[in-house]
Amino acid sequence: MTDRYLKAFDTAAADFERLGEHLWKPIGQATVDRTAPAPGDRVLDACCGNGASAVPAALRVGDQGRVDAVDRSAALIADLRSRTTGLVPLHARAADVTSWPDSGYDVVQAVLGIFFFPDMAAGTEHLVSRARPGGRVGFTIWRRGAMVAPGTHLRQAVSQVTGRPAEPRPTGPVEAVNVAADYRAWLTDRGLTDVTVTTHELHLPLTPDLAWLVVTGSGFVTVLDGLDETRIAEVREVYLDSLSRAGVTELDATTLIGIGYSQGSNALVM
Ligand SMILES: C[S@@+](CC[C@H](N)C(=O)[O-])C[C@H]1O[C@@H](n2cnc3c(N)ncnc32)[C@H](O)[C@@H]1O
Repeated sequence: MTDRYLKAFDTAAADFERLGEHLWKPIGQATVDRTAPAPGDRVLDACCGNGASAVPAALRVGDQGRVDAVDRSAALIADLRSRTTGLVPLHARAADVTSWPDSGYDVVQAVLGIFFFPDMAAGTEHLVSRARPGGRVGFTIWRRGAMVAPGTHLRQAVSQVTGRPAEPRPTGPVEAVNVAADYRAWLTDRGLTDVTVTTHELHLPLTPDLAWLVVTGSGFVTVLDGLDETRIAEVREVYLDSLSRAGVTELDATTLIGIGYSQGSNALVM
């Protein structure tokens, strides 16, 4: 993750929590339903944000289990800690998870995080290597086309307000694998066996409040870098108007949840 995104997640922390009710929590829960930690399990929740998947995992493993919830954003980790005092199995740590040293986990999971790694394949392979042989591993990414419209209209709005050319849409290696069959093959290449990919459809009515929250509570907030409050208010107006004129009334927040097993005997699992 670039420092620009790290700063974004630090500054977005308050709205990240509000956006979580719409996005992060249902997606985190859907992932944990599939990684299915059992009572007593050790879980690594990588890129945990403020706990959308780490908290349900901690509730499943119970007091005899342990969830190491790791995120680079100190602000999100502080938020997670403040809201989970007393949740015994949850251990929140501010760290770069691509060099997380502990291993032997029963479950490793990362929701909407692996595509931020500077080297997505190497970072993902590092996470796979943290699971015990036969351990269950789950990675969730956006499906192709999801979350695209807000970014497009936002970059156009910033360009219109500032007079600068629109920033290009950030792309990365995830764009090559964000359909189910390709994602399954890519995860298999990362060293997982018996990979299944589930499409988790999520379509939300895009009210003006949600449309703006998607900007201020996620990595999209980087697009507002360097703008003062007046300019940001102008961007908001142009952006919402642009979405409305284009007839965008729905947010596609569909994800692909890939589940596989670390190399070893699957008989050890479940
Ligand atoms: C879109 S958020 C998702 C957070 C959470 N998993 C959820 O679904 O609510 C992506 C998160 O990945 C974190 N992240 C990105 N790269 C990371 C890294 N190398 N190590 C730890 N966390 C990272 C960011 O700080 C951010 O909190």
